[in-house]
Amino acid sequence: MQTNDNNNGLKITVLKNGPIMMEGSCKVEKQSGELIKEGDKLFLCRCSHSSNKPFCDGAHKKAGFIAD
Ligand code: FES
Repeated sequence: MQTNDNNNGLKITVLKNGPIMMEGSCKVEKQSGELIKEGDKLFLCRCSHSSNKPFCDGAHKKAGFIAD
């Protein structure tokens, strides 16, 4: 697991064998600036198997995704 805190309170944690967890006030936008989602805890897919990219939908478990 790797963690990173920056000065605006957003904490990003790479979960072992799973998604990237973002904790703190955060939002995800399209390149156009259109808001996709915002919240205090979001999970981003890093296995490429999610049907709801860029968010994790749990598919990494069925896919057997392995990464530190
Ligand atoms: S990391 Fe969970 S679906 Fe990809």
